[in-house]
Amino acid sequence: MNPIEQARELALSGQIPEAIALLSRHVNAGGELAMGALGHRAWFLRVSGRLAEAEADYSDMISRWPDLAEARVRRAEIWRMRGEWDRAVEEVLDVLRSHPREPTAFAFFADCRDLLKPDTNVPEVLNHLPVSVPAPSEVVGLLEQQPVTLPTSVHPALGRMLYLLARSVRPALVLEIGCYIGYSTCNLAQALEDSGRGHLHAFDIFMELKDYESPVLGPCANCYDATSGHLARAGLAHRVTLHKGDSSVTIPALLSGQEESFQMAFIDGDHSAQGCLRDFVNVARLLCPGGIAVFHDSIVDGSGYVGPRSVLERIDEETQGQFAWINLPTPDDFGLAIAQKRFSGITPKWRPSLNDLAAELAIRGRQYLQRRTR
Ligand SMILES: C[S@@+](CC[C@H](N)C(=O)[O-])C[C@H]1O[C@@H](n2cnc3c(N)ncnc32)[C@H](O)[C@@H]1O
Repeated sequence: MNPIEQARELALSGQIPEAIALLSRHVNAGGELAMGALGHRAWFLRVSGRLAEAEADYSDMISRWPDLAEARVRRAEIWRMRGEWDRAVEEVLDVLRSHPREPTAFAFFADCRDLLKPDTNVPEVLNHLPVSVPAPSEVVGLLEQQPVTLPTSVHPALGRMLYLLARSVRPALVLEIGCYIGYSTCNLAQALEDSGRGHLHAFDIFMELKDYESPVLGPCANCYDATSGHLARAGLAHRVTLHKGDSSVTIPALLSGQEESFQMAFIDGDHSAQGCLRDFVNVARLLCPGGIAVFHDSIVDGSGYVGPRSVLERIDEETQGQFAWINLPTPDDFGLAIAQKRFSGITPKWRPSLNDLAAELAIRGRQYLQRRTR
């Protein structure tokens, strides 16, 4: 057991002064345990009510490791405990400016949301709630840490949903409209890779990028370079074909003759009512029965886009009742909708239920008996 673990054990058994003394020896000795020892000592001082000493430890940490955002939030928590309200809030907002995904900063605001002044710009900040499920790849994790990825790319929680949906559906063919720098593309392709099957056809105009620096690749001149580079770096290039151009033209041109062969589609391209409907109509033809179309930005109030929602409203008339759909809230308030192509015009189920099967068997049984007794 290392000294930090020993100190934790001591603290858990109520021996907090002994834990602090043990940690102090390692703080003073320096070395690789110093940061952990200092952080734990600050915490134990704090829970013992020795706030000034805890604050001094956090200040020490910040001066030695200036990039340690958590220490700044912890120190701000002490200011908050002492009633130095404005100073604490300002500090944590400042932390979020340089570390937009710092979980302790979210926790700070979540704890005191009701007490904030109405003009504190926290709701926007809280929308970027951290996701505790690990990213499916290192590239995805790195992209999530960069503020420029959001909100143009989907929220990490939606990245996980796309990944898990694709893992569940295990599609042979997936279609994506709207890649931007390839964040959602990497999530979908990783799911295919981890399932050991499937190919993704991804469509985008792939516009030029101004001053975009990828955390993985460095500067990228356009969305094509970013998407293809991120996929390559994640070892996923073989899972994806990128199609450059307006999706309303490229999808019909490339995929005619492939009706009902895709099991999944993600629609996050043209968000206008007309453009989104055009994309959906093409996707609807390509999806096989049971296949799903996933829409991002389906909640108008949150996303500011009307396209996806208006498509959902028109799905019945556009497809003669071929699709069932649901619209889900998401942590960023933008919304995610899923439309599923029915197996026939009548049953909306993914698979027949046991009741359906039993009813079917009963009908067949009756027919059999009728034939036998005729
Ligand atoms: C919101 S971004 C996509 C973000 C991406 N899905 C993600 O989560 O990482 C929208 C993308 O759609 C693309 N787009 C918009 N209209 C399009 C069209 N008509 N055809 C193809 N791509 C389009 C834009 O170039 C942009 O990259």
